[in-house]
Amino acid sequence: MSVIKADQNIDARYGFLRARHGQANPQANGYRLGRFFEREQRVILSVLDQTHGPFLDVACGSGLMLAPLLDKGHTVYGLDFNKEGCTAAAQNGLTIVRGDAFQMPFSDQTLGQIINCQFLNQQPSQQTQCFIEEGARVLKSGGQLIILWRHARSLIHKTSHSIFTFLDKFTGQPPFPQYEHPIQEIRGFASTVGLKIKHEAVTLPFLKPDTMTVKNLSSNIIGASFFIVLEKP
Ligand SMILES: C[S@@+](CC[C@H](N)C(=O)[O-])C[C@H]1O[C@@H](n2cnc3c(N)ncnc32)[C@H](O)[C@@H]1O
Repeated sequence: MSVIKADQNIDARYGFLRARHGQANPQANGYRLGRFFEREQRVILSVLDQTHGPFLDVACGSGLMLAPLLDKGHTVYGLDFNKEGCTAAAQNGLTIVRGDAFQMPFSDQTLGQIINCQFLNQQPSQQTQCFIEEGARVLKSGGQLIILWRHARSLIHKTSHSIFTFLDKFTGQPPFPQYEHPIQEIRGFASTVGLKIKHEAVTLPFLKPDTMTVKNLSSNIIGASFFIVLEKP
């Protein structure tokens, strides 16, 4: 197995959440509410090209995000360093490869669709860049790298993060790291490795539709996550 750069605090946090919520609940992966997960899953599935596999969920946790593909008979690979996460994802039907997102155990140009959800906010910029380079390496031509991460500067996110951080301290839960990644940063890393931006948006925590454009001023107030679809030419 490749070197696993496991962060002990993060591992401890997921151990706590998984013991509390079980294998098939998105809250075991850090989602505060199941309906946020469902909304973000809808957004991911709306752009995923189901005719162009193989499919990989990087930092898959319990592997729930692409679970609907399993019902259609697709094989879905899941990559995570967390041992219990891998066990949960395998029980949920994914084909698991335990390993590191910064050194993916896949050959060059072998995957059609890669998704990565709620992972980048735990990573500093250097690691984020490294992850996007790895994604570009393992994607086939015409393949997509689909990334979703928290809009850490939006008012609603800042407010809820402060409240939850306080509550977590109070209840003795290990802290999650929190890095901001403005969408311009991700665009820059993508263009360095030749990935083209196919689509980008900000997800909303409530209201309809599920997303709004990045340029909409309200996205800085009620935006939940950034969402970008990158294509390898
Ligand atoms: C917030 S959870 C998200 C899980 C899943 N993507 C979802 O949206 O339901 C982040 C996941 O990233 C995994 N992770 C953190 N660092 C990693 C690394 N270097 N390589 C692989 N997985 C990692 C954690 O173990 C955890 O399962």
